[in-house]
Amino acid sequence: MEIEKLKEELKELNKEYAKIKTIPVEERKAFGVEMNKKKEAILAKIKAAEEAAEDMNVEAVDITAPAGFNAEFPKASCGSKHPLMTELDHVVDIYQAMGFNVMEPRQLDDEFHMFDSLNFSKGHPARDGYDTFRTAEGFIPIAHTSAMQNRALTTYRDDLEKGGQIAVVIPGRVFRNEDVDPTHEHTFYQCEGIYVAEKATMGQLLGVFKNFFETYYGQTLRIKTQPGYFPFTEPSFELLVEKPKTLGGKGDGWLELLGCGMIHPNVLKAAGIDPEKYKGFAWGGGIDRLVMMKYMLNDVRYFESGKLDFLEEF
Ligand code: DAH
Repeated sequence: MEIEKLKEELKELNKEYAKIKTIPVEERKAFGVEMNKKKEAILAKIKAAEEAAEDMNVEAVDITAPAGFNAEFPKASCGSKHPLMTELDHVVDIYQAMGFNVMEPRQLDDEFHMFDSLNFSKGHPARDGYDTFRTAEGFIPIAHTSAMQNRALTTYRDDLEKGGQIAVVIPGRVFRNEDVDPTHEHTFYQCEGIYVAEKATMGQLLGVFKNFFETYYGQTLRIKTQPGYFPFTEPSFELLVEKPKTLGGKGDGWLELLGCGMIHPNVLKAAGIDPEKYKGFAWGGGIDRLVMMKYMLNDVRYFESGKLDFLEEF
């Protein structure tokens, strides 16, 4: 109501202002100034009245009501399992179905488990190849899941004496001081496998791989080995898998997926196992690459990026 009255006043004032033409020229300036002052005063009052009215229009909030009663919450979407964890579970399931036990590695370990127990002599040049980070205390964020080999072997050593075998897989997170690019990450996942028995052969290992890849990719893939070098295996191999046409391969490409070989006698000895009596094979490779081939991804950095549009595709 007050606003209406003020607006009426303003109209009257404008009418009066129109009289400016009828008064002597020398008085017009003073008249104008006076009129403007009045006009501004009325406008200020209108503004204040409008603001006060607006304040009164605000809906009352009952602050004692339970949350959600008055408030409209922003839309939220549910979180979900990271694709790498889903795939890691799948990988482990396949090995478990073959009879392998599962162990988890430590993320921070020592020189003995990372290198010494794996037949890397002191100052061995192959140590440099692992681009390890180190803490001020000299601990190592593990650069491969092989750092668990010694613990896995000693944990299940007694089973050998009872006529059994050691069969363990070790999925875990590993860290390397790498320059990051589409095919290299400083943090990634590996899965290690170990098998020790009175009789163990590379033929059996290739059988494990064939079975694994067929189940994981749901199709028969050709695999092949090429000579490799690891201090903890002798002989050592790299395993390559044919990139399937259905997964974007041209039919002539091979993907290097893991390292493997017959466990070196010194590694068995370091775990208190007699290499004259028992033989073993081991392997280890990146999970990220395995998954990248499955979903035809071309940049490993997506996994650790926290990009929601990428993660929501799974
Ligand atoms: N630890 C090796 C790496 O990260 C991979 C590897 C090679 C693991 C041979 C093994 C093995 O168990 O026998 O490069």
